[in-house]
Amino acid sequence: MPDGKNLVEKLRESESVLRDKLGDYSPEIAVVLGSGLGPLAQRIEDAIFIPFADVPHMKTSTATSHVGRFVAGILGGKRVICMQGRLHGYEGNTAQEVAYPIWLMGAIGAQTLITTNAAGAINESYEVGDFCIMKDHINFTGRNPVAGASPNNIASRFFSMYEAYDLKLRKLGLSVASELGIPVHEGVYLGLLGPSFETAAEIRAFRTWGADTVAMSVCEEVIAARHIGMRVFGMSMCTNMACGIEGANPTDEEVLEIAKHREADFCLFIQTLLQRI
Ligand code: HPA
Repeated sequence: MPDGKNLVEKLRESESVLRDKLGDYSPEIAVVLGSGLGPLAQRIEDAIFIPFADVPHMKTSTATSHVGRFVAGILGGKRVICMQGRLHGYEGNTAQEVAYPIWLMGAIGAQTLITTNAAGAINESYEVGDFCIMKDHINFTGRNPVAGASPNNIASRFFSMYEAYDLKLRKLGLSVASELGIPVHEGVYLGLLGPSFETAAEIRAFRTWGADTVAMSVCEEVIAARHIGMRVFGMSMCTNMACGIEGANPTDEEVLEIAKHREADFCLFIQTLLQRI
């Protein structure tokens, strides 16, 4: 989906197909489920499944463990639309293609975005399996979905990224985690294009910049969400220590194994957070 004058028209076409498939159902909260976190979608009641491939102008997921469909229904008592699997830059998608489903979910009425991912922990006080609520991010992908002529037709291209991660939702997330006895941190997330994992030297550099976690997603989605004024909550599952920390040498298999191991707590956390919103 190259940037062109007709991004708005494309969104309208996608929106009309999505609305058709959803019927009377109007989601209020968008949820993006990251690597290995897709099983939460199985808990959605009265689920409507819409493969990305059935929505015009949407790219499809190619990453391991990313199913590649929207699942709309009730979760934690709220009307949600989940992306079971996301689109990454490292799959060859442009920043706008990564952002497209976020603009789309916003267009059909979602006012809040909950985005999740698996991440490496840069902060040495974190442990594998801990959760980390994003308090801010460093977009080190080198890209921005709002660059180009056409996103300016969706909303103004100049917008603030101050407190991009909603303060009230962050506080709520911390209190939900403490209520459930789930270990959680609040940290700065650094997003990269990938797909190679980082070098140990990069991780040391990122630590001096104030980054606590690192992965290959989220930043472009959050920029798109803020572009259209959605409230954002972001949370990582720390599936591994980042490269070089006590000899860590992360692999995709390790990421998926730990995500599976921590899946139950993750699902419980997101469901309870939704109940409290
Ligand atoms: N680096 C980048 N992406 C990741 C990592 C990591 O250590 N863990 C999970 N996704």
